[in-house]
Amino acid sequence: MQVRSAVIPAAGLGTRFLPATKAVPKELFPIGDQPAIQVVIDEALGAGIDHIVVVSSRSKPAVAQYFEADAELLDALEAKGKSDTAERLRAIGRDWRVSIVYQDDPKGLGHAVGCAREAVGVEPFAVMLPDELMASSGLLAQMNGVCSSTGGSVVAVAEVPRHQVSSYGVIDPAGPLSADGVIAVTDLVEKPPVDEAPSNFIIAGRYVLTADVWVEIDALTPGRGGELQLTDALRAQAARSPFHAVLSDVGRYDTGNPLGFLTASIELGLTSPELGTDLRSFLSGLGT
Ligand code: G1P
Repeated sequence: MQVRSAVIPAAGLGTRFLPATKAVPKELFPIGDQPAIQVVIDEALGAGIDHIVVVSSRSKPAVAQYFEADAELLDALEAKGKSDTAERLRAIGRDWRVSIVYQDDPKGLGHAVGCAREAVGVEPFAVMLPDELMASSGLLAQMNGVCSSTGGSVVAVAEVPRHQVSSYGVIDPAGPLSADGVIAVTDLVEKPPVDEAPSNFIIAGRYVLTADVWVEIDALTPGRGGELQLTDALRAQAARSPFHAVLSDVGRYDTGNPLGFLTASIELGLTSPELGTDLRSFLSGLGT
């Protein structure tokens, strides 16, 4: 079954990017000429998803504004002969649908995803954390396939050095990796102390979840950091249903901090047909 909806939690305050985020939500920071959230949306569309559910905050009206049609701007662009740019703007939300829902209280990732319940409905769906950008849609498409074939939820994982595991959700794998990077999961722990982590495989910001997770999200009680943790809802799922992880083999960029954002901009810029060549020659000039 093809997953139709992707939930993008985008209600955070962006404190790691202050003062830049005082006026501009970090999901709208540019990667080249695209807001970062559009890079995530393009990844979803490439995996066959056609409904984007953005969980925003009323203190960040610019996020919803990005998706609204702006007739005056389109007229101004056409009058200047900039039809190509106008066409790019018209394409936002044309072949796909966007729903904006609001998380009024920042109670944690589990709560944020729970705010999307009505917009998604009772069917499998993706969750895409916009602090991580992927170089292609291949990972999400593979996760969709694993969810279809196993009937259970799937998380993306990455292998990290031991000392980093306590910053992430960590899986407890049931066995070895298959040739295509799939691994059965028996348990998941949110930000465990290094010496208690069940593995070095951390949850990497992409999820394909079966609809029974809504019940587990509803039942959440405060976990790590006093927040309603999505990982705890997944832990309950893994205890009674098939649950798998897919080891990410696509380029993965952590844009959750200023240095990561800068390096992601450069790496993704190098792959851009418009910017790549000039950016590469600028960077090689710096090295001389
Ligand atoms: C969240 C999740 C965590 C996951 C991480 C990936 O943590 O709770 O399980 O590993 O995203 O980026 P956060 O970064 O919001 O603290």
